[in-house]
Amino acid sequence: MARVNVRKGGRADVPFVLDLGKRTIESSVSAERDWTRERTGENYDRLIEYALGQSHELLVAQEGADRLGFVLYLDELPDEVTGSPQAFVVYAAVEPHARRKGVGRALFTAFEESARGRGLPYVSLMVTEQNVAARELYAQLGYVTERRQLCKRL
Ligand SMILES: CC(C)(COP(=O)(O)OP(=O)(O)OC[C@H]1O[C@@H](n2cnc3c(N)ncnc32)[C@H](O)[C@@H]1OP(=O)(O)O)[C@@H](O)C(=O)NCCC(=O)NCCS
Repeated sequence: MARVNVRKGGRADVPFVLDLGKRTIESSVSAERDWTRERTGENYDRLIEYALGQSHELLVAQEGADRLGFVLYLDELPDEVTGSPQAFVVYAAVEPHARRKGVGRALFTAFEESARGRGLPYVSLMVTEQNVAARELYAQLGYVTERRQLCKRL
């Protein structure tokens, strides 16, 4: 386990969120989709810009002066079916060199504490079928599959 500290992030962390996200977003590309790194990167930039314009929280994992990962979540995006309040993860990632050391688990533990502290009764996220690392992490933390997103190539 890395001696990782998870803190609240701010404006100064946005370049890190943009950079690490674009280096790791490939993990979220579904095997069903044609994609280019350029368009996916631009799309990621737009997603982060959108999220930062909403009610959100950014958590950053750090060891010494080094940023190792982050979770960015929205806290005013209720479940679309029931309307129940929730914390919804926009994106999360850990630096490739820092993986399998408990940083992801530390980030998501802090995320849950933060959401609970805001009185939110649920945490929610989307994960790509082929993203084994993330799916395994979420399964370990007790997340269950709630809905399925279907796709068909025309
Ligand atoms: C998913 C991710 C955040 C996990 O971060 P991490 O710091 O490596 O995770 P941890 O070290 O805390 O791992 C916790 C558990 O998750 C599971 N896990 C993590 N990486 C795994 C892998 N590559 N394969 C299988 N299980 C894995 C394991 O059960 C692990 O526990 P263990 O190491 O005791 O076996 C990281 O792989 C990542 O940044 N991926 C790219 C971005 C991404 O997919 N983000 C999620 C978008 S939904």
